[in-house]
Amino acid sequence: MKDLVGIKELSRHEIEEILNTAKAFKEVLQRDIKKVPTLRGKTAINLFFEPSTRTRTSFELAEKRLSLDVLNFSVSTSSVVKGETLYDTLKTIEAYNVDYIVMRHSSSGSARFVAEHTPASVINAGDGTNEHPTQALLDAFSIIEVKGRLDGLKIAIVGDINHSRVARSNLYLLSKFDTQINFVGPPTLLPLEAPDNVKIFYDLKEGIKNADVVMLLRVQLERQKGAYIPSLKEYSHVWGVKKEAFSYLKNDTIIMHPGPMNRGVEISTEIADSSRSIILKQVTNGIATRMAVIYLLTPKEA
Ligand code: CP
Repeated sequence: MKDLVGIKELSRHEIEEILNTAKAFKEVLQRDIKKVPTLRGKTAINLFFEPSTRTRTSFELAEKRLSLDVLNFSVSTSSVVKGETLYDTLKTIEAYNVDYIVMRHSSSGSARFVAEHTPASVINAGDGTNEHPTQALLDAFSIIEVKGRLDGLKIAIVGDINHSRVARSNLYLLSKFDTQINFVGPPTLLPLEAPDNVKIFYDLKEGIKNADVVMLLRVQLERQKGAYIPSLKEYSHVWGVKKEAFSYLKNDTIIMHPGPMNRGVEISTEIADSSRSIILKQVTNGIATRMAVIYLLTPKEA
């Protein structure tokens, strides 16, 4: 494949191939010398039109571990602020003959647009509310690392599902395996209908008590155009996962969050920092997973 725009178009076999490759790269990352010469002489650009901590830094590390030359494009100091379009920004970058473009943008569909207009390999690092494919891949990698499998698991995704590209990519990925997914949250933030493998819960305890994995999401106030919740305080009171949950969760339930977390809103500090939390493992696994994605894509020959 030339690009990774979304999980939707990947087969289970392709997902497994990425996860197996990521496992091999994770072994490389545990060596003294964490770098391989695989992509020496190739160039990657990280084009982030939206803020990011985890995705941007782990892509940069992944690229450097693969011996790529890396350009970081800072939108706030670029000619985008003077009104340059996405298309003209892309054509300018293309003139440097780059091989990989990692892009985050606030518009859903922007990654596909760019992929269709450049010979470089495009990796979607999050486009609007559409998809965040490498997040779902690193989530799957992390679950398998702890649970040994995806098949047969019950996974509760809690919170602002309607505005979450992470939830969408996870839904696509987990649905290619034999999983049961619970969407849990207030009716205003959940879809009205869901596929057969998804159950909708408007009660937090009911939705998470039997789950093997509880995946919490941030309330994305920046993507909401209306008043979907009365206040963050009320959201936290009703939907925040707090230490009381330990009394009814299964003993081996793991807690995940893609970040950035709003401590005290969707997740309490006791939960975030507990031994059940694999949040930092997710961050670590972002590097190997993104190395695998870059390694397996093939830019078009110029
Ligand atoms: N999970 C995630 O996309 O985090 P960042 O916004 O920090 O990249």
